[in-house]
Amino acid sequence: MALPHSVRLVEVGPRDGLQNEAHPISVANKVQLVNELASCGCSYIEAGSFVSPKWVPQMAGSSEVFSAIQRLPGVTYAALTPNLQGFEAALAAGASEVAVFAAASEAFSQRNINCSISASLKRFAPIMAAAQAAGVPVRGYVSCVLGCPYEGAVAAAQVAAVAHELHAMGCREVSLGDTIGTGTAGATRTLFDTVAARVPRNQLAGHFHDTYGQALANVYAALLEGITVFDSSVAGLGGCPYAKGASGNVASEDLLYLLQGLGIETGVNLEALIGVGQHISQQLGRRNGS
Ligand code: HMG
Ligand code: MG
Repeated sequence: MALPHSVRLVEVGPRDGLQNEAHPISVANKVQLVNELASCGCSYIEAGSFVSPKWVPQMAGSSEVFSAIQRLPGVTYAALTPNLQGFEAALAAGASEVAVFAAASEAFSQRNINCSISASLKRFAPIMAAAQAAGVPVRGYVSCVLGCPYEGAVAAAQVAAVAHELHAMGCREVSLGDTIGTGTAGATRTLFDTVAARVPRNQLAGHFHDTYGQALANVYAALLEGITVFDSSVAGLGGCPYAKGASGNVASEDLLYLLQGLGIETGVNLEALIGVGQHISQQLGRRNGS
């Protein structure tokens, strides 16, 4: 498939990134990160998550983050919501979009959200209804699409089945997450080709973690499969609290550099984004992952 002229970037650093950083970070610094990302031209920012603070303490304070950010016109400020309680909190905080998250593996579903895949999908039904009533779009995630930390290999057909359920219940886009970064380019092509039989390609996104240095190759493989939306974290922040050893998302700066080299537009200013990555890495006292 021909490469696209433009790609939409979903900046997940303030959520997927910060949820797994050991160094505590204040609400003020989180707000600053979101504001800086928006001023670089990031038009979609996952700014926090409304999950149990006992499960993911790093995301406590997401309500305060949403109330304090300076909202730029045209920017979507999204939140992760595992259940109706989380959705109601996200709505009250003014999230412009929410995301529900399911897994392609039963063991990961249990460890991550304490229920089976089918129970999680049932749990999302009231979120979908409430979101529709409130006019809030919903994005869906499927985790462990190219491997599970507990079960190993995951069949592409199983990913397709879960992605199809999320799409059928009204998710406007389904992001396929290589949670532990074990995917390779060939497996990525097969995955998107299989899932595209059940969810239109223009409603799929790629979400790659870089544990084995394969994330950019996997993005390129997904581009060749006609995928035009990618999730990334500034400075390659983070990982997943329920996937030991998994490293952060593909770094937004590296992704942008790849896309620029291919002549693909994103609307994001690379120089400015590099500055944001340096800034947050200093605040966290960590090496910049880009
Ligand atoms: P549970 O313990 O089964 O929930 O957890 P529960 O309904 O029995 O409630 C237990 C307690 O949690 C209660 O409080 C509830 O009020 C509270 P208590 O009475 O004990 O004081 N609670 C909540 N508090 C705040 N916000 C909420 C909420 N819901 C219940 N929304 C639950 C189930 C889903 C809540 C829990 O397992 C959880 O929060 N899990 C979140 C896990 C998580 O955030 N993982 C990381 C994100 S996923 C990811 O990173 C992958 C992704 O990036 C894609 C990829 O890479 O693959 C998206
Ligand atoms: Mg992730």
